Amino acid sequence: MDADLNAARRAVRDCRSMCVLTGAGVSAESGVPTFRGPGGMWKNRDPMSLATPEAFEEDPKTVWEWYQWRRGLIRKCSPNAGHAAIARIEREKEDFLLVTQNVDGLHRLAGSKKMAEFHGNIWIVRCTGCGREEEVRDDFPVLPPRCPSCEALLRPGVVWFGEQIPSAALSESLAMLERCDVLLIAGTSSVVQPSASFAYAVARRRGTVIEVNLEETPISDVARYSFRGRTGELLPAILCA
Ligand code: OAD
Repeated sequence: MDADLNAARRAVRDCRSMCVLTGAGVSAESGVPTFRGPGGMWKNRDPMSLATPEAFEEDPKTVWEWYQWRRGLIRKCSPNAGHAAIARIEREKEDFLLVTQNVDGLHRLAGSKKMAEFHGNIWIVRCTGCGREEEVRDDFPVLPPRCPSCEALLRPGVVWFGEQIPSAALSESLAMLERCDVLLIAGTSSVVQPSASFAYAVARRRGTVIEVNLEETPISDVARYSFRGRTGELLPAILCA
């Protein structure tokens, strides 16, 4: 473990171009529930059954109640040492991109700037009628909320299952996967595409893949270094050595 930790630190220190991919596990120590872990369920509903366009079409009020609950939780959360370590390594690298599947905005609060938000942002609200988008931090008094301009339903500015990843974020990430020397994957179950295939893309051209997760995941065998533990401890250990 120590030898691997030192080798991973060296790979990070010596690389010119670096990509970091994060998932819900990175925010778990800040108090944001993960999707597939304990605390992810809401009123006995599986998040996976709520984060879909079909669920919203059928029952927008319930989907909004879930998002309002998540927004309430996230509002009280602050970035942790893992977020801070990622923001810090960005400043040290000439070529860097953070790809996050998280919608909580905690990376930005920690200071990350070179970032692709694959699944959108929970603080953005978009009109299903006129397409108007704005950042809204406060709770909505009435759910589901309606557009002040055209009265159509508002929806959270996130990407649901079956929807497209924002094209700029996707193309920027795919280009980075072609050139990065190191890909660090942290706190994601690596089951949701397209991010689940990042590790294969980089390993295929012999880039260094490093994983940090509490558990083994489908990409653990592909990673050159795969660490079991908390991102709040391991990311500073790997990135800030
Ligand atoms: P998941 O909930 O699927 O996975 C979280 C991962 O983080 C698991 O592999 C945990 O073992 C790990 N984990 C939890 N706490 C950790 C900690 N403190 N340190 C290290 N690892 C930890 O979340 P994602 O992989 O982000 O998409 O899920 C991907 C996407 O599926 C989400 O963006 C969301 C979800 O449904 C949509 O809503 C479209």
